[in-house]
Amino acid sequence: MIRKEDKIIFEVSNLKKYYQVRKKSFIRGKEYVKSVDGVSFSIKENTILGLVGESGCGKSTIGKTVLGLTPPTGGKVKFGDNVIFDVENNIKISNSEMTKLRSEMQIIFQDPYASLDPRKSVGQIVSEGIKKHKIVPKGNIEEKTKEMLELCGLDATSMFRYPHEFSGGQRQRIGIARALAMNPKFIVCDEPTAALDVSIQSQILNLMLDLKDKFGLTYLFISHNFSVVKSFCDEIAVMYLGQIVEKGSAYEVYDNPKHPYTKALISSVPIQHPDEVKERITLEGSMPSAVDLPSGCRFHTRCPYKTERCINESPTWKILDNKTGVACHIY
Ligand SMILES: Nc1ncnc2c1ncn2[C@@H]1O[C@H](COP(=O)(O)OP(=O)(O)OP(=O)(O)O)[C@@H](O)[C@H]1O
Ligand SMILES: [Mg+2]
Repeated sequence: MIRKEDKIIFEVSNLKKYYQVRKKSFIRGKEYVKSVDGVSFSIKENTILGLVGESGCGKSTIGKTVLGLTPPTGGKVKFGDNVIFDVENNIKISNSEMTKLRSEMQIIFQDPYASLDPRKSVGQIVSEGIKKHKIVPKGNIEEKTKEMLELCGLDATSMFRYPHEFSGGQRQRIGIARALAMNPKFIVCDEPTAALDVSIQSQILNLMLDLKDKFGLTYLFISHNFSVVKSFCDEIAVMYLGQIVEKGSAYEVYDNPKHPYTKALISSVPIQHPDEVKERITLEGSMPSAVDLPSGCRFHTRCPYKTERCINESPTWKILDNKTGVACHIY
């Protein structure tokens, strides 16, 4: 028997998303930003997978592509028993099927200021999806809207007010209420607390944990903040230049990082306990462009441990004894 917590609800295989950056010219041909370049992961039901990495490594692009908000270049995404797309086998879910699933897969954005329409009342914002997807009968829409706001820690009378009347943290609660109103199973959370003060951040994270337990939700949690990801997520995937370089339980990845890039990211997190001993690794230079990718291991231009092999050969994915997966020639 499959235990509930072992059931995989979301599965991504060899996902690619390239954006064309220049028109075809006779000299250079087409050029692409390889924003996501062969990413695979799966998420168990009612768990949280954290996706971390520096700005521009492709985190948001993964979020948008897996939800079908932007067309993929390659790979396959499965949600429950439904194949959302399988580019290599020319499979794409029909529009009518996707509309049905749309409500079950939601997204929460970083910027609660930009993602809420300032001309609409909070009630209109939260009830929009309820109406469109006929989540409840017409007569119960207002009641459902109020219930969602209250579940997210807002007063029911908030529905008559407008986004500008709320603080950043409250606006993020409105964004969460809007997503929750759809009875989702899976939510992509794209830096939901990055724009908030630290104290407000933890309130929002606690709310998200409560809702996860109450409704059996599954999250893909995108962040550039390793300490948030470590405390919030069950598993962590570390991304560099469009690829996952390390993936494992949050505990193993944070306390026993394997990839030099993961080590460097963690060594830049301020220590949280005086007894904590950390290996300090400072990264040289900045992340190369996703248009002119380095040869071999993409991280070699900044890696303190690079060898000749790293320049010429890209590392394969290896599963280590502690079940962490890593792409690095050291292992
Ligand atoms: N619509 C687009 N057209 C062209 N390039 C794009 C587009 N969207 C993203 N990119 C490029 O893809 C790469 C990954 O961008 P993405 O926004 O996914 O990064 P990110 O990891 O979410 O960064 P951040 O932490 O800053 O949010 C970047 O090089 C970006 O410039
Ligand atoms: Mg982003």
